[in-house]
Amino acid sequence: MRSWRACAAASCRGPTPTGKGWTELNHNGVVGPSGPKLLSARFGRTDGHRLAVYEKEGGYQALRRVLGGMQPAEVQAVVKESGLRGRGGAGFPTGTKWGFVPQAAEQVYFFVNADESEPGTFKDRFLLDYDPHQTIEGTIISCFAVRASLGFIYIRGEFGWLIDRVQKAVDECYAAGYLGKNILGSGYNLDLIVHKGAGAYICGEETGLINSVEGRKGQPSIKPPFPAVSGFLKKPTIVNNVESVASVPWIIMNGAAAYRAFGTEKSPGTKLFSVSGPVKRPGVYEIPLGMPFRTFFNDVLGGMADGEELKAVIVGGSSVPVLPADEIMNCNLDYESLGSAGTMLGSGGMIIIPKRCDMVELIQVLMHFYWDESCGQCTPCREGTGWLHRLVKKLRRGEGTPEDLERIEHVCSGMAGLTICPLSDAAVMPMRSFLAKFRGEFEALIQDQTPVAAESRWPRGEQE
Ligand SMILES: Cc1cc2nc3c(=O)[nH]c(=O)nc-3n(C[C@H](O)[C@H](O)[C@H](O)COP(=O)(O)O)c2cc1C
Ligand code: SF4
Repeated sequence: MRSWRACAAASCRGPTPTGKGWTELNHNGVVGPSGPKLLSARFGRTDGHRLAVYEKEGGYQALRRVLGGMQPAEVQAVVKESGLRGRGGAGFPTGTKWGFVPQAAEQVYFFVNADESEPGTFKDRFLLDYDPHQTIEGTIISCFAVRASLGFIYIRGEFGWLIDRVQKAVDECYAAGYLGKNILGSGYNLDLIVHKGAGAYICGEETGLINSVEGRKGQPSIKPPFPAVSGFLKKPTIVNNVESVASVPWIIMNGAAAYRAFGTEKSPGTKLFSVSGPVKRPGVYEIPLGMPFRTFFNDVLGGMADGEELKAVIVGGSSVPVLPADEIMNCNLDYESLGSAGTMLGSGGMIIIPKRCDMVELIQVLMHFYWDESCGQCTPCREGTGWLHRLVKKLRRGEGTPEDLERIEHVCSGMAGLTICPLSDAAVMPMRSFLAKFRGEFEALIQDQTPVAAESRWPRGEQE
């Protein structure tokens, strides 16, 4: 069972110097030469992070256009019209969110969320690693659109190489006059700070992120008020995902209609998917939203690796419901199709689960994660995640009873929708779906009563 995790970890690796086997494909992770490359044009290159390269390929022209005469409201309107939906998980329309900043606000802040801690999700680090200037240009334009004079790029502390890379790119921008006072002679002033997080999943939640930058515990706050009205230092604050802001320069240069030419009506544009698990070509891929999963799986990922068979897929990061192979095969990769199938597009962190995977062991690993990462403020989450983890462990020790399956459901119903932030739901959604879709595996453990934990390949500490 360690195998699926090993695959995920392998796909999460930073840059490797030369591509060999799937790693090479991973680092050229786009849909062939004719696939759309709105976000991934410089993926896999060794020079794409340099300002000179980015400028030569059209970089900072969108910023020049914006600062050359557009008003913040016009920029907001183009992004709203493009239909871009936030790529951090919830899919909320980016332009609409920007519109929530009160017109009369004197001080507005902007945060780029590069915490990226959801198991299975590793797309934002690709964007920042291979092409930091695309995100920085998008950030400057986004800050202008909401009239922010101070922005932050909040990067998970473990991503040391990424923090260095982004800081160097920010320094290049100051030197080139893209940041600082009177940017490109427009009169617009903006400072951008690269902030290092300490590596807690909950700091990816927007209010937890803001609290942590204010120097408090990185714990979420009750909403409302929403950050767009009262966020950092109680001032209006927009938090957007890396991929969301990185999409902005292309939209400005090519227009909302051109963006809408990709994807579906309700899910316009392209999206990055990070794919882990035993497929022939795991990696990060940019595809137009709405592509049938079947096409993505067969043509882009190359199907399962030799000797493997598809069992199930967690399509949008570990917090969304799992779908068995036959159900996901009928879905398209967009918000509405996956929603109708009972799951979510989420962050686009796709975990491919092979036939040989023990689903009870997999959910044990996930429940351990959510229990470990709960910030502890809300009783249903703090206690509920612990109960779910313990109950699944009990089944695997061969000590489960049919009542334990009811207890799992009982605990889930005491957690869902009853907490300050959605981490509690993020544990409930996979738990409930694993039980609903793979109930036979849970029941078999109860009937069999053979302890499997003793044979587990997980290190002892990870089972506690
Ligand atoms: C527990 C938890 C962790 C999250 N982690 C991230 C993250 O790492 N990156 C991210 O962009 N959004 C994350 N989010 C979502 C953010 O709260 C927020 O919705 C998002 O950054 C908004 O950006 P978007 O509108 O561009 O999607 C997380 C949410 C929760 C509840
Ligand atoms: S739901 Fe969990 S993680 Fe979120 S605030 Fe409550 S205790 Fe913290």
